[in-house]
Amino acid sequence: MSSNTAEKGTITWQSPSNIALVKYWGKHGNQLPRNPSLSMTLKESSTTTTLSYKKRLPGREVALQFLFDGTPNRIFEKRIAAYLNSLLADYPFLAAYNLTLDSSNTFPHSSGIASSAAAFSALALCVMSLKQIVAGEQEESSFFREASQLARLGSGSACRSVYGGYSVWGSLSNVSGYSDEYAVPLLSEVHPVFQSFYDTILIVSAEKKKVGSSAGHALMERHPFALSRFRQANEHTAELIEVLKSGDLKRYIEVVENEALTLHGLMMSSTPGFILIRKETIEIIEKIREFRKTENIPVAFTLDAGPNVHVLYPAAHRAGVMKFIKEELEELCDERRWIDDSLGTGPKQLKG
Ligand code: DP6
Repeated sequence: MSSNTAEKGTITWQSPSNIALVKYWGKHGNQLPRNPSLSMTLKESSTTTTLSYKKRLPGREVALQFLFDGTPNRIFEKRIAAYLNSLLADYPFLAAYNLTLDSSNTFPHSSGIASSAAAFSALALCVMSLKQIVAGEQEESSFFREASQLARLGSGSACRSVYGGYSVWGSLSNVSGYSDEYAVPLLSEVHPVFQSFYDTILIVSAEKKKVGSSAGHALMERHPFALSRFRQANEHTAELIEVLKSGDLKRYIEVVENEALTLHGLMMSSTPGFILIRKETIEIIEKIREFRKTENIPVAFTLDAGPNVHVLYPAAHRAGVMKFIKEELEELCDERRWIDDSLGTGPKQLKG
């Protein structure tokens, strides 16, 4: 049992990153998406955040110290303090404590893994746990829904990380039950073939991103293809929800790969335009497609806003795909690096 009181205590959450299968690309207002997206929550790539709190005289702003891997980090501290201050109207208790956050990641920085998704999801869950201590227990589903909403305000894709399995964020034109405010998990309806799935992340380059995500989303504001893209993302999300239920791997591969290439097509055709893929990215994609055809193994790729390739495949084909990665793809990676990950069960509160 934790000895936390409303006076002081520590709260720890470990939260995973996620990889989008249908991409969120374009936002408006207070972190609202222009289109729905659907993601797979990862298992290994996660952030662990410990929030230590101690009562103080309430101030007008939060009193925050931020540590990354145990070392003070002023850049992150400023961003997180601004985020927490923006929540004060609804979460006034945040200004009534001295807060210390200590965060660490299981994956290297700039590895192409969405660190903001894991970080803001872990942070939002810590805020929610403190809220429970201050304001009383809350029902589990509304706890996670509110955590998702809070995470979204820090980074859009983070709202999908508060659940395990697959999550959908953004309202759909023809399907009810989804929202722009928070993500919703796709639970038991998922077909067994999609319940045990791998994502092996090939590190083509570990360089820092050339375009920050907010600048990237802004490129959709004046994009000539914006409206058809938003419509397409709607259709892809609705279809992928059905595909995940039916187990249709062929269609999964078509939709997921089309989404990855559409994201990069949109970036290339923006003004200014960006080419974030490298020649190795293209070579890997071509090899995956060739391997799939000759070996008849259902393996797909997706990309984030960068050159690294996520190789997605069902557990039943683990041995064959790993052999292929080691023999043919590893040499195209930066220092032969890749990160092994898979579908995860979502965040965990750790003892603290
Ligand atoms: C290409 O969630 O990082 O990874 O809301 O500005 O923090 P902000 O953006 P962010 O954007 C992610 C974009 C993407 C696609 C996705 O994850 O859906």
